Amino acid sequence: MENIKVGVLGATGAVGQKFIALLQHHPYFRVHELVASERSAGKPYRDAVSWVQSSPLPGPVGETYIKSTAEPLESTILFSGLDSSIAGELEERYAAAGHVVISNSKNHRMDRDVPLVIPEINADHLKMIEHQPYPGALVTNPNCSTIFLAMALAPLHRAFGVEAVQVSTMQAISGAGYPGLSATDIMGNVIPHISGEEEKLETETLKILGARNGDRVLPADISIGAQCTRVAVIDGHTETLSVKLASRPELAEVRAALEDFRGYPQEAALPSAPQQALWVFDDPNRPQPARDLMIEGGMSTLIGRLRSCPVFDVRMVVLGHNTIRGAAGAAILNAEALVAMGYLTGGCFSKEPHRRDACVETPAAAEPVAGR
Ligand SMILES: NC(=O)c1ccc[n+]([C@@H]2O[C@H](COP(=O)([O-])OP(=O)(O)OC[C@H]3O[C@@H](n4cnc5c(N)ncnc54)[C@H](OP(=O)(O)O)[C@@H]3O)[C@@H](O)[C@H]2O)c1
Repeated sequence: MENIKVGVLGATGAVGQKFIALLQHHPYFRVHELVASERSAGKPYRDAVSWVQSSPLPGPVGETYIKSTAEPLESTILFSGLDSSIAGELEERYAAAGHVVISNSKNHRMDRDVPLVIPEINADHLKMIEHQPYPGALVTNPNCSTIFLAMALAPLHRAFGVEAVQVSTMQAISGAGYPGLSATDIMGNVIPHISGEEEKLETETLKILGARNGDRVLPADISIGAQCTRVAVIDGHTETLSVKLASRPELAEVRAALEDFRGYPQEAALPSAPQQALWVFDDPNRPQPARDLMIEGGMSTLIGRLRSCPVFDVRMVVLGHNTIRGAAGAAILNAEALVAMGYLTGGCFSKEPHRRDACVETPAAAEPVAGR
């Protein structure tokens, strides 16, 4: 496998740092350039970042000078951890310049021709990039809480049909970026509102579980009611779910559907894929953010307290690592899926898989895309 040059947009933030930590031992993605705001541009990365990862800052990355968004870039793939206030316009501009942009931001997730992908569930939605109006491509991964909700629902929807869901979240501080909330605001506290979060759970999940029809997705027909809170946990979003099913399976059948869930990342043995996509605990005290979050390197979705529900049919607790499986790790897995599907070979991107002769070799100058 050839090396593929990647850039990290928003490299100094919570998600950007996680990209750098996760990519340092990647078998074929090489961090080639870093982009952040004018506050950071022109500085070596180690002088601009407040590195808060538990692994040391990789030396060569620390010496890399941060680029501004005005400079042209060279990398084939751009992993975006940009603040949503600027991600929308910039990500389109980079796709128009020939880069493959894999975004964590909310801006383009619900665009008609942009795939919103969790590859265990809907890897085939990546084919939507073939219809995009760019020489490059724009792929999104879902909101961090949506990923764990969709991962838990996907096997149930396939096997039994999901009709309705009530979900409540207890979301970690790192979900608010770095440095996030002040200690005064979050310690000993629960914040009962996260702007826009409930809408994301209620709409993104339907697109992910929906059926692709050419260049668009027909959303799944499920009623979802979400309530989101921020709690004094550093990493790890916990969610409690009650699920109404179209058929009435035994609890053992529900458990088997969850535990047996596999998808494209496991079948294609993608480097960042968890072996077990969903872990189901029997111990009623698990999963816990402080104890279980790093199972499978933070790439699994963890499920506990599976039991019947007196209001709907089944209920459970779901936990996932918001900056790994909920953000940077999810984006890297999407990029690995694009490679495995033949869209990316070395420094070459082609909308016709495995067609090196039809590829975009070097990104063109980063000109703004005309209005879409
Ligand atoms: N945190 C999570 O758990 C999580 C999970 C899923 C998705 N997301 C999404 O991922 C994105 C990044 O989140 P985060 O938590 O990493 O946020 P963050 O810690 O606040 O980082 C934001 C990054 O964007 C850069 N930036 C801000 N303004 C910019 C500008 N005008 N031009 C260029 N770069 C600019 C910052 O650079 P400077 O340091 O130079 O200001 C920083 O690198 C957001 O869209 C967020 O919604 C976050």
